[in-house]
Amino acid sequence: MITPLTKSISVDFPMIMAPMFLVSNETMMVAAMNCGIAGCFPTLNFRKEGELENILAKLNEEKTKLKVKGTYGVNLIVQKTNPLYEKHLKVCVEKKVPFYISSLGSPKQVIEQAHSYGAKVFCDVTNMEHAQKCFDLGCDGFIAVGQGAGGHAGPYTLQVLIPALHNHFPNTPVIAAGGIATGAGMLSMLAIGAAGVSVGTRFIASTEATVSNEYKNAIVSSRMSDIVMTEKISGTPSTVINTPFAKKIGYKQNWLERLLSTNSRTKKLYKMWVQISGMKKLEAAIHPGNYNTLWIAGQSVELINDIVSCRVIIERMKKETEEAYRVLGTTLK
Ligand SMILES: Cc1cc2nc3c(=O)[nH]c(=O)nc-3n(C[C@H](O)[C@H](O)[C@H](O)COP(=O)(O)O)c2cc1C
Repeated sequence: MITPLTKSISVDFPMIMAPMFLVSNETMMVAAMNCGIAGCFPTLNFRKEGELENILAKLNEEKTKLKVKGTYGVNLIVQKTNPLYEKHLKVCVEKKVPFYISSLGSPKQVIEQAHSYGAKVFCDVTNMEHAQKCFDLGCDGFIAVGQGAGGHAGPYTLQVLIPALHNHFPNTPVIAAGGIATGAGMLSMLAIGAAGVSVGTRFIASTEATVSNEYKNAIVSSRMSDIVMTEKISGTPSTVINTPFAKKIGYKQNWLERLLSTNSRTKKLYKMWVQISGMKKLEAAIHPGNYNTLWIAGQSVELINDIVSCRVIIERMKKETEEAYRVLGTTLK
C-alpha cells in the first residue's frame, strides 16, 4: 500500500503503533518495525538515567537489520510541565531518531531540531486551531486524535476531523487515531482522506505489552460503555476504564483544583504535581494484583476479543483491510 504516510516515513503499511505511556516497550517496537509499520513509544517510558539512550541505540541497530520497510519513532510531551522534555529531545537528536510525534504543547523546538537532520515530525491535534499552529511551524503531518481514542481523546469524530484537516491542509498527511482496531475501520479512514492510522488500545491486549494480565483481560472484557473521561490523571480529560477506583477518584476537577490549575502563579507547579501523581497512580495500576485499577483505554475495547502477539494484530489488520476493500468493491458494483 502506498500513501503519503508510507512515503513520508518509509514504511510498507500505513499504520503506526501508537505511543502509550507505560505500555509501549522495546519488544513491541521491534515487532512493529519487522511487520513494516512504525512503532512509537513515549520517551517518558524511559525516565531512568541512560535508559532512553540505551533503547534508542538498540532500535537503531534493529532498524539496520530489517528485511522490510519499517521504522520507529518517539513521542515527546512538548509541555513546559514535562521536566524531561529538553533532556529527552537532546538524546533523541543525538541518536538521530527518524520520526517524532509531538503532543500537548508547541512543537517548535522538536520540528527545528528534527529537521536539522531530516527526521519527520507529526503532531497530535484534536482541532483546527492547534493544527494551524503546527502547520505554521512546519510539521510534516498530523495525528488527528478523535472521540473515543485511548488517552487524551479529542472532542470531534474522525468522520469530520479527518476530511476537515485534509481539505484545509491538502499536502500534509493526516493520520487517524481513535477507535481503530480492525482493517475495515482502517479502510474507512483511508476513504475519508487519512494517509494512515495510529492504533493504541488494540496493542494493550498484546502478549508483548508490559502490563498486568488483569489490565489486558479488562481490555478484552470491557465494552465501549465502560469507557469514561477523567480529568484526574493529568488535568486534561483522558479515557479510562470505569473501574471502582476510577469511580472513587472521580472524573472532574473540583473548584480548588480548577483554581490552582488556572491561576497564573500556581498553574505550572500545580499541573506538574497533578501529572506526577497521575503517573504514579497509573504506574501502580499496571502491576499484577493492584486494587487501585486506573487503566487508560479507548472505546475500541468493544472490538477487541483476544490477547495475541503484535505480529498477529498487525498481520490481521493487513488481511482485514484487503478483505474489506474486496467486499466493498463487490457490494458497490
Ligand atoms: C494506555 C495508553 C497510553 C497512552 N499514552 C500516550 C502518551 O504517553 N502520549 C501520547 O501522545 N499519546 C498517548 N496515548 C494515545 C495514543 O498514542 C493514541 O493516540 C490512541 O491510543 C489512539 O486511539 P485508540 O487507543 O483508540 O487506538 C495513549 C493511549 C493509551 C491507550
